[in-house]
Amino acid sequence: MPTLIHLSDLHFGPHHHTHLDELLLRDIATLSPDAVIISGDLTMRARHHEFEQARVFLARIAQPILTIPGNHDQPILTPRDWIERLTRQYARYQKYIHAEIDSALDANGLFVLGLNDNHPLLPGGFWSRSQRAWIEEQLARAARGAVKIIATHHQLVWNGWRPAGFWNSERALEFLAPRGVELVLNGHTHVANALQTSHGIVVARAGTATSGRTRHGNGNAYNLISIDEKQIAVFIRRYDAPANAFVAARAYTFPRQASRR
Ligand SMILES: [Fe+2]
Ligand SMILES: [Fe+2]
Repeated sequence: MPTLIHLSDLHFGPHHHTHLDELLLRDIATLSPDAVIISGDLTMRARHHEFEQARVFLARIAQPILTIPGNHDQPILTPRDWIERLTRQYARYQKYIHAEIDSALDANGLFVLGLNDNHPLLPGGFWSRSQRAWIEEQLARAARGAVKIIATHHQLVWNGWRPAGFWNSERALEFLAPRGVELVLNGHTHVANALQTSHGIVVARAGTATSGRTRHGNGNAYNLISIDEKQIAVFIRRYDAPANAFVAARAYTFPRQASRR
């Protein structure tokens, strides 16, 4: 029964709660998931020292990790950084976090593809034609029985609220479902959520694990996800200040797409 920990929006830099880093690392060591997936916004302003802090945090995780950049992981549009933003958008991410921007992780029955969905100027998420071709090619090589998972920063399920989500997400879901994708991991809104679409795909969004920029009364949180033959279970674990620990807050279970056929 594979398990994964889904973190998002760590936002190293201003408003980062450093004391939560230790609690997360302790939970990861204790829960010992098969993989740790971080769905973007590792930094607040894409500063070198913020990426360095993120790198040090990731180096302390023993499990296989997959990360993707979020919109905050691009240099900001200041007079000093805009040329880098438009020409070498992910040079810092690649230097400190991972050489590949889109990447695959094949670990213990989980086949995860991480997709960068940012645009240098426009808000919201997009995949290019070549990224869709890459997804198709990669999914075709997944081992039989592996759980196919996509991580992309912007929320696939949204109703046009701020902050902007993934554009034309219906098209993305229709693309992923026949290719056997069962689970999509998002971040960006800093609000945890989980649901199953009419395509049978579970879309799990993680809140911000460590940033003080929480929204709509939602505290810091991360997702623990376990998958067995019949179902995908998403446990939202939120930070509880009196206990000074992440505790079980909400649980969702969904039938697996594979078991519906
Ligand atoms: Fe964020
Ligand atoms: Fe974001």
